[in-house]
Amino acid sequence: MTIQTVHVPLGDRSYDVRIGTDLLCRAGAEIAPLLQRKHVAVITEDRVAGLHLAGLHAGLAAEGITMSSLSLPPGEGTKNWDGLTCAVEWLLSERFERRDVVIALGGGVIGDLVGFASAVTRRGLRFVQVPTSLLAQVDSSVGGKTGINTSHGKNLVGAFHQPSLVLADVDLLDSLSTRDFLAGYGEVVKYGLLGNANFFEWLEKNALSMAMGDAGLRAEAVRVSVQMKADIVERDETEQGDRALLNLGHTFCHALEAATGYSDRLLHGEGVAIGCALAFEVSAQAGLCSQEDPSRVRDHLKKMGMKTDIRDIQGDLPDADGLLDLMGQDKKVIDGALRYIMVRGIGQAFVTSDIPRGVVHSVLQDALKGR
Ligand code: GLY
Repeated sequence: MTIQTVHVPLGDRSYDVRIGTDLLCRAGAEIAPLLQRKHVAVITEDRVAGLHLAGLHAGLAAEGITMSSLSLPPGEGTKNWDGLTCAVEWLLSERFERRDVVIALGGGVIGDLVGFASAVTRRGLRFVQVPTSLLAQVDSSVGGKTGINTSHGKNLVGAFHQPSLVLADVDLLDSLSTRDFLAGYGEVVKYGLLGNANFFEWLEKNALSMAMGDAGLRAEAVRVSVQMKADIVERDETEQGDRALLNLGHTFCHALEAATGYSDRLLHGEGVAIGCALAFEVSAQAGLCSQEDPSRVRDHLKKMGMKTDIRDIQGDLPDADGLLDLMGQDKKVIDGALRYIMVRGIGQAFVTSDIPRGVVHSVLQDALKGR
């Protein structure tokens, strides 16, 4: 398969996202132009290390590049101050310097953590993202948001630190469970819903075959998603405006994730899918989009076998007021007013603070009633 490139044009922080198959084998050739010495740091997590570290090692060795590696425990629990300390202390103890490159091999947790460790170690090391989950390939590895969670919430400490290169090898997606793949798909469908009706239509036709394993379709879905993200990040790198559109569904998602204790009850991408369906429902109830749009979104998510409604989340949840309180903790709150990403139709998202609390309350109450 031909490798495709999406360029993220950010002046002296510009970089390429390379998308295709066999990229792990080609890692050495792809990364070599960035190196001043043929030795790199690789930070990963234990599960991914078992699956892909040897492949990366071989890909680097093919170009005579050696590596030192650190493997952390898998899971969101690693993306905290302790994980950061561990990564930074290790980079310093291994004497990696500013001219060196750190490779983040893993999903969103590793990408965010290693990106942040790279941002703060010696005031900034260069880093390369090798995302191993669909969610990381289409979203978190691109755009330079890095950070960790604290007891106050997710991603509240971090930095914008752009990678020097992203290698999105769609072969690596074969090792994902169906649940993890579909959770990542929540972020893919988000791109169609927020800004590209043609892409949503393409997904309606092709996403099932893509989920079944078609590498060409997977590469195309990753390419379109990354291109959309690159366009938005080019316009608004530090989220002063348009970048907030990438958070379609996320305010509801963050509340549901908090309500489920950031546990396996709800994966982030699953929350994004449910959140997108809720954003469409609120938009329809507020008279912003047609009544058919939320049904079309929900039909597609259901056809994919995804969590679509709040009722698909197992176990207890807070009531509508409780969920609204949790939504109030969102980073998009300004002067106490919640900013919503709403839609005028499929592919037409916009930011507004002008949504009556009563409309959101009633949509949440109806959604909870179905449980
Ligand atoms: N995941 C949203 C963003 O990168 O802005």
